[in-house]
Amino acid sequence: MSKKVLAIYYTQSGQLSEIIDCFTAPLIASGASVEKVEINLKHNYAFPWTTDSFFSVMPDCQLDVPAELAPFEFKEKAYDLIILGYQAWFLSPSIPFNSFMRHAAIKAILNNTPVITVTGARNMWLNAFVRVKKLIHAAGAKHVGNIALVDTHPNPVSFVTIFHWMLHGKKDKYLNIFPPPGVSDADIRHTSVFGEQVSSHLNSNNWVGMQEELDNAGAVKLNYNLMIIESVAGKIFKFWANFIVKRKNRAAWLKVFKYYLLIAFFVGAPIVITLDAIFFRFFTPKRIRAKKQYFLNLTN
Ligand SMILES: Cc1cc2nc3c(=O)[nH]c(=O)nc-3n(C[C@H](O)[C@H](O)[C@H](O)COP(=O)(O)O)c2cc1C
Repeated sequence: MSKKVLAIYYTQSGQLSEIIDCFTAPLIASGASVEKVEINLKHNYAFPWTTDSFFSVMPDCQLDVPAELAPFEFKEKAYDLIILGYQAWFLSPSIPFNSFMRHAAIKAILNNTPVITVTGARNMWLNAFVRVKKLIHAAGAKHVGNIALVDTHPNPVSFVTIFHWMLHGKKDKYLNIFPPPGVSDADIRHTSVFGEQVSSHLNSNNWVGMQEELDNAGAVKLNYNLMIIESVAGKIFKFWANFIVKRKNRAAWLKVFKYYLLIAFFVGAPIVITLDAIFFRFFTPKRIRAKKQYFLNLTN
C-alpha cells in the first residue's frame, strides 16, 4: 500500500509552498500519496505589509498568542509521515504556525506520527525552532527530521532585502543592485535531494540516520555568529514584548522598538560578535557544542 504523507503549512508569499512542492516531488514520484494542506487564518495578514503592521505582530509572536484559523480538513485519519512547514517571525514560530499547532484537530493528527520540519526563513530560525520542537513534542509526535532553508547572503544584505520584499510584496532585486531576497531558487530546487533521502526512509519506515544524511546534503547549516546574535536577541525581544503589551500607547512603543531594532542590528550585533570572539569563541568549545546541540537536536 502506498505511504500516506501530509504536508501542513502556512505561507504568505508562496515561498514555503514552493519549497514544499520541490521537497515532496520525489515522494510523489516514488508512489507516496502526498496531501498538501495550506492553513490560513480567519483574518489573514495583508501582504505586502506596512511598516506598522509588520512590527505590530512582534508581541504576539514572542508571547505565543494564537489567532483563529480558517476552516480546513484532512482526507485521512492517520498518516505515515507529516511534514510541517513553518517560518520564523520575530525569532518565534509565525503566528499562523503557532495557531495551527495549538488546534485540536492538528494535535490529534500529529499524535504518534513521524514529523519532518521544513522552514524557509531569512537566517534566524533557531529560537523559533526550539519552540517548534516543544509544540511537536506536546502533540505527541515523533520529530524525525529537520530542513532549514535560509537567505545565504550576508546578514545586513538580507536584512535590507527582506524589508523590500515584505513591504513591496515582490521577491525581486531591490534597486536592481541588491540580490533577490529570501531562499534562492537553486536552494529551493535542491530540496528535491532531501525529498529523495526522505523517500527511502519512508519506504523502509526507519528514520535512523536520516538527519545525518540530510545534514550531509546541506539541509541544516548552522552559522555560529548568527547563533550568538539570536541567543542574545531572543531574550531582549521577549523583554520588549512583555513591556509593550503592558503599555496603553502600544503603537508608540512599537515605533520605539523599530528604531531599537535598527540600532541593535547595525551597532549592537557587531559588538556582541566581537566580544564573543574575544572572550568565548575559541576558549569554550564544550559550551559551544552544548549550545549547538540545544538548538539542533530533535529529541527535547
Ligand atoms: C513579521 C515577520 C517577521 C519575520 N521575522 C523573521 C525572523 O525573526 N527570522 C527570520 O529568519 N526570518 C524572519 N522573517 C522571514 C520569514 O521567516 C519568511 O522567510 C518570509 O516571511 C517568507 O515566508 P512565506 O513563505 O510565509 O512567504 C519574518 C517575516 C515576517 C513577515
